Amino acid sequence: MNPMPPGVTVFPDEEALARAAADLFALSAADAVTARGRFTVALSGGTTPLRTYELLATDPHRVTVPWRRVHVFWGDERCVPPGHHDSNYGAAKRSLLSRVDVPQEQVHRIPAELGAVPAAAAYEKELREFFGAGLLPAFDLIVLGLGEEGHTASLFPRSPALDVTAHLAAPVMPPPPAHPRVTLTLPVLNHARHVLFLVAGSAKAQALREVFSGQGLRPVPAALVRPVDGRVNWYVTRDASLLLGK
Ligand code: 6PG
Repeated sequence: MNPMPPGVTVFPDEEALARAAADLFALSAADAVTARGRFTVALSGGTTPLRTYELLATDPHRVTVPWRRVHVFWGDERCVPPGHHDSNYGAAKRSLLSRVDVPQEQVHRIPAELGAVPAAAAYEKELREFFGAGLLPAFDLIVLGLGEEGHTASLFPRSPALDVTAHLAAPVMPPPPAHPRVTLTLPVLNHARHVLFLVAGSAKAQALREVFSGQGLRPVPAALVRPVDGRVNWYVTRDASLLLGK
């Protein structure tokens, strides 16, 4: 069997992946609070991370993670109301935030219901107020997923948002019927201390192969996430990894 690319860990199934991801989150939180008195995390949307969020809301993590020191952000959001079934905030609230003791003022929701352009501006303002006006946010952990065509957060192939470097957040207008979105930009993703990708299922195998193959005219968006001073871990299921090294 071909060796896995650096940073890639293969799990037999989604439950094992979710358990390991919850453990990494908890360890990252403990380390950040010890070092800096707080833990700043940007959560991913989509379905893959939901089991991880549920495990974080379950003992032991529900009790041992220093939730009162945790500041929750999102990597991206769809332009729907927070209670909408497509809302990344809504999904994280149901699976995690309604069950753990993160102070409400430490939940930094993207107000995407305002519309992509004003919401991106509002989110950027909140990021700058929190992390410091002249600084690139340095998240302790950013959790990301991978789309079947290689997108991550809401950075889609050939999207103008991929080229945004002067802003921390950007509006995304995918072709209908997809919702407009707001996404963190690559400079923010690449300034994280730690990025954790969660990738499950055979449908992601081709995209995962393209992330690491370096082939093609333009790398897929997820391949552009290479934190300059940070670590990237790829937690993938065996069926998602089957084309790696082929
Ligand atoms: C979103 C996510 C997106 C997601 C991938 C994978 O808002 O949809 O941020 O980047 O992580 O599309 O989604 P699944 O985990 O549902 O496959």
